[in-house]
Amino acid sequence: MVIKNSSELDAASADSNYDREAEVKAFDESKTGVKGLLESGVTKIPRMFYSGELNLTKRSENNSNFTIPIVDLAGIHSNSDLHIEAVEKIGSACQEWGFFQVINHGIPNNVLDEMINGIRRFHEQDSEVRKQFYSRDKKKKVNYYSNLNLFKNNTANWRDTIGFLVAPHPTKPEDIPEVCRDIAVEYSKKIREMGHTIFELLSEALGLNPSYLNELACAEGTSVVGHYYPPCPEPELTMGASKHTDAAFMTILLQDELGGLQVLHDNQWVDVPPVHGALVINIGDLLQLITNDKFISVFHRVLASQTDPRISIASFFINYDDKAEGTSRVYGPIKELLSEENKPLYKDTSVKEFSTHYFSKAIDGDSSLQAFRL
Ligand code: OGA
Ligand code: NI
Repeated sequence: MVIKNSSELDAASADSNYDREAEVKAFDESKTGVKGLLESGVTKIPRMFYSGELNLTKRSENNSNFTIPIVDLAGIHSNSDLHIEAVEKIGSACQEWGFFQVINHGIPNNVLDEMINGIRRFHEQDSEVRKQFYSRDKKKKVNYYSNLNLFKNNTANWRDTIGFLVAPHPTKPEDIPEVCRDIAVEYSKKIREMGHTIFELLSEALGLNPSYLNELACAEGTSVVGHYYPPCPEPELTMGASKHTDAAFMTILLQDELGGLQVLHDNQWVDVPPVHGALVINIGDLLQLITNDKFISVFHRVLASQTDPRISIASFFINYDDKAEGTSRVYGPIKELLSEENKPLYKDTSVKEFSTHYFSKAIDGDSSLQAFRL
């Protein structure tokens, strides 16, 4: 059946003969992800990937004047005017967009390019080799999977992921797949350093001492995921990544030149255009919580594309314990930011409690922060 409009899509989804659970189970048991579906020759996407909304709007529906702010970090450590300018730009970006890109951040382009290549090599290697890494076992320090919440969400995304831990309990290099091992280790080290710098700038943008957020341990933990969005034969029926916010304090994202990432701004989906050498920074739910809504954690999504595979690497700054779960450390709105006119909007919560709630909730387009509002 070729689906042409949303009532046909509803009809297809409501088909009583359709056994979603069986389809999802068989897909997961293949251990080769969405890439494996293509390798097996599918020309129609399985129904488990239907996003439920027929997405004909797609790319660059926004011909608006909106663009994600780009912040130049060149010279910020030696020139105080440039430093002040960057901090101001970051402050307004975090309040208005929750997203910005940084250039001249100090990580060389060859490291960024090679990290994208390394993640591509992992996902494009023989399926028999990939399969050995496929797992949903949280105790493993490297996991290859398709759709973290595959069994909970109502729709599956057209993407596969390999994830590993960087701090404070890093995956041992020898456990990282060999095809991307060296670059993964080098990239992770650079991303950690950069994360500390960004938290300094974010602290200043909040009017706090530069070391404030680092002392709060916002950069204590980092996990890295390397996504692969295979070309999709029917890109209007599914999403690369459904609308969501990130749970972490902050995310640093490296995307290749393909595009497809969009941010919800003023009720419009705005493209995050690929800029070679740039990194995308976004505020996560935990930072919105501790800044008492001053900095915003914003919905974003990734469109599926018919042509090339897209690769992106997200580094999440969130503290976790040695079981790779959120720590018991408790966070609430930062006292220095509160006043008579700015009363706390959230109750105190541990990272563990927050992330348990975040991951137990299906991706349904609602914010996980709602449950913690006073
Ligand atoms: C994420 C995410 C965007 C992308 O991993 O949370 O939003 O471009 N990724 O892959
Ligand atoms: Ni995200």
